[in-house]
Amino acid sequence: MNCRELLEEHEVFALVGKVAAELQQPAYVIGGFVRDYLLKRPSKDIDIVCVGSGIALAERVAAAAGVHVSVFKNFGTAMLRLGEWEVEFVGARRESYNRNSRKPIVEDGTLEDDQNRRDFTINALAISLNQADWGELLDPFEGVKDLRRKIIRTPLDPKITFSDDPLRMMRAIRFAAQLNFDIAPDTFDAIIEQAERLQIISAERIMDELNKIILSPKPSYGFKLLFHARLLHQFFPEMVALQGVETRDGHTHKDNFYHTLQVLDNVAEMSPDLWLRWAAILHDIAKPPTKRFDARVGWTFHGHEDRGARMVPHLFRRMKLPMDHKMKFVQKLVRLHLRPIALVKDVVTDSAVRRLLYEAGDDIDPLMKLCRADITSKDDNRVKRYLRNFDKVEQKLQEVEEKDQVRNFQPPVTGEEIMAAFALKPSRVVGDIKDAIKEAILEGKIPNQREAAWNLMLELAREKGLQLHQG
Ligand code: CTP
Repeated sequence: MNCRELLEEHEVFALVGKVAAELQQPAYVIGGFVRDYLLKRPSKDIDIVCVGSGIALAERVAAAAGVHVSVFKNFGTAMLRLGEWEVEFVGARRESYNRNSRKPIVEDGTLEDDQNRRDFTINALAISLNQADWGELLDPFEGVKDLRRKIIRTPLDPKITFSDDPLRMMRAIRFAAQLNFDIAPDTFDAIIEQAERLQIISAERIMDELNKIILSPKPSYGFKLLFHARLLHQFFPEMVALQGVETRDGHTHKDNFYHTLQVLDNVAEMSPDLWLRWAAILHDIAKPPTKRFDARVGWTFHGHEDRGARMVPHLFRRMKLPMDHKMKFVQKLVRLHLRPIALVKDVVTDSAVRRLLYEAGDDIDPLMKLCRADITSKDDNRVKRYLRNFDKVEQKLQEVEEKDQVRNFQPPVTGEEIMAAFALKPSRVVGDIKDAIKEAILEGKIPNQREAAWNLMLELAREKGLQLHQG
């Protein structure tokens, strides 16, 4: 196959080809860029491999184009920007790895050596930038065929490829999830065999791959592969614990692992937000530790939402996910995920709606998405009935918000004002009065307005024997 057309689309290739000829260092476009071109997917980075020094080639290209080059001597790589493209250069290498480290022993090599050491056949495709075979696709491992057959397969014996770099086991599943490919049976067997070797990989790098799986169009697929390969067991045993059903006295609970995956797919259809997807993954995470059997009602998971919310920071810390507002968002959704359902079942009072708006604040919309996604009954009519009730709840939320504006609740009388009115220092009584005003508003005893709040403050102060400060 010849890919001349691609090379004509971007000036960078002609330039690299010309400089490579001058240096007598054969050069090739390789890896993800070629794969994505053949799959007609957008791509942002271009990887160039050359026989000889990648740094020398990059420096000459940068000088010819008049751009800056960043050199990473330790890795033998260099990077430059040409227009919108980030172009990375590396010399072709042979690599072998030490068993207990990711640090490879590197030697100079040929293009073929370099293709050999790559992770998958579809990532080992190269296009020549050399005059003799300009644009020729060099595909020693039938990568094009694997693209057509939609298969992830390693170029070498998969045991060697994964042992060289265990992160590639995550990458195999990540590419399968992103591209909707299968993993070749012997490649998958090797993953099962070496799953425990993932332990030598840092949590950050595992999470980079996991987040890409979560962001794929149907994330349940990647999670099922992670589960069956036993990779999930290495870094997320709490999720593995969701799997399985138990029957006692004729009561069977649902399999919470597959339920969670269904909820995750459902939110993925509604939103591209990574953290809403994480909330779906974690919404029932405390079901295993809260599971009880009650002879009258069967299986219960009382308090799993609060217990789950308490687990969120620990899980985020261990998995090296961000500990900032993103974690807080996930935690809030886990804690509140049953609340809208409760509104569907009960007679909906304004005060219950106000409380939910107050607690969810601006996150009410993603919370409602999660709750809709959480309805996974096999009975279609039941799902429809629930969703119709949710429409009513959402209408009610809107009405109450328009009337009372508690979604971003700001106390109509501040602590400072209470202190000034009664010449108080910061103290418990100030907090008590503020809380009582907030409660009265949420309960609907007074409207969310300054005058009503001020009058209630005066009344409460009178009861507590406080004197209004003059002046
Ligand atoms: N590669 C590898 N083993 C790894 C990581 C990368 O063999 N553990 C090789 C692959 O040939 C890959 C190339 O290095 O195509 C570039 O890696 P990277 O930029 O991480 O991935 P891409 O394939 O470009 O895909 P994406 O941009 O989607 O991450």
